[in-house]
Amino acid sequence: MARSLWPIENRRGRFAGSAPCDAIFAIFPTMPRFRADLDHINPYTPGRSIDEVAAELGIGDVAKLASNECPFPSWPEVVEAIAAAGAGVNRYPDNDQRVLRSATAAHLDVPEDHLWFGGGSSDLLRAIGLALGGPGTSTVYATPSFVLYRVITHIAGSKPVEVPLTADWVHDPPRLVEAIRDDTTLLYLCNPNNPTGTHLSFSDVKWIIDQVPDRVLVVVDEAYLHYADAPDFATAVPLAIERDNVVVTHTFSKVYGLAGLRVGYAVGSPATIRMLRKTQAPFPVTAVAQAAATEALRHQDRVADRVTHNRRERSRLSAALDYLGIEHAESQTNFLFHRFAGDPSSFALHGVIVRAGIDGWIRTTVGLEGENDRFLGALQAIESDL
Ligand SMILES: Cc1ncc(COP(=O)(O)O)c(C=O)c1O
Repeated sequence: MARSLWPIENRRGRFAGSAPCDAIFAIFPTMPRFRADLDHINPYTPGRSIDEVAAELGIGDVAKLASNECPFPSWPEVVEAIAAAGAGVNRYPDNDQRVLRSATAAHLDVPEDHLWFGGGSSDLLRAIGLALGGPGTSTVYATPSFVLYRVITHIAGSKPVEVPLTADWVHDPPRLVEAIRDDTTLLYLCNPNNPTGTHLSFSDVKWIIDQVPDRVLVVVDEAYLHYADAPDFATAVPLAIERDNVVVTHTFSKVYGLAGLRVGYAVGSPATIRMLRKTQAPFPVTAVAQAAATEALRHQDRVADRVTHNRRERSRLSAALDYLGIEHAESQTNFLFHRFAGDPSSFALHGVIVRAGIDGWIRTTVGLEGENDRFLGALQAIESDL
């Protein structure tokens, strides 16, 4: 194999998003022939890590409010379940997640064969995109919404049809329905929505689903449902039980605090799930993740405590933003989407990591009380310098 003169980063960096692939191949014939349509997709970039910012600032204490994670450490029983499962990792995990499936089915009061598990709900969203995408299809979703919908749509070779949120940052039901074309196979609804935190009422979700032709799969991504307390919010799980063209995704990464283990599930009809599983890699959920999620489900009282904490701190942060005259969206989640005119990375100098949103807006996760105080202090300090 010929040795290249430049490190890969330089080659990619120089051409990323600009030159068509053929031009790159002509100049660098040693590069494998990657799909040209992947050129304008950037690999998923999470927010900066605590370790990275702590090392840069030389401090031990950084508040990471960038990834909508659960701020509390794992429950001791979950840590014990992880350790116990660790002893058996020489074997492949249960590909049918029987113990976790039965616990989840009992918890949701749904039949076991209506559940589908994955390595985080991202794994399921990816498999869904691949199963319904491909040339000659289009995929409808709101914008701004969860970035993965756009990435998966491109990877799947489907045409993205993006529908702006309303001026209040809410999904726009009539425009979403109008956006469905003859070649549309997939519609994502993020409820409550990331990055805005806003929600659709159950009746709006049902109205959209009622308008959509049967050939279009509607994915209702409810990653943040536990934090929603609006009286008109309700899960779309009953619709996914009834209809072949509705799938609802949930995750153990948020209120259950298992983001680091990667486990999520979808509810749908057995026939739909059988089709969707075809595009998923085998053994998607590790034995350790299955054991931890099964144990976490047993502690609904403590889940409720986390939800109460989030509600209290979310209200406190919203009130503080109101007091400071900073516009924000109405959040039904564990984060707030609010105006910020400066550079989001300037928070790092104050030991706080937030997530850049769209121009002039950022997304801040609700953390522990002290972390939220720190964020508010940093916000005031930065705003006073702007
Ligand atoms: C709306 C939404 N859906 C899905 C996910 C993916 O979660 P996970 O893959 O950790 O289950 C996220 C992660 O932040 C999200 O915000």
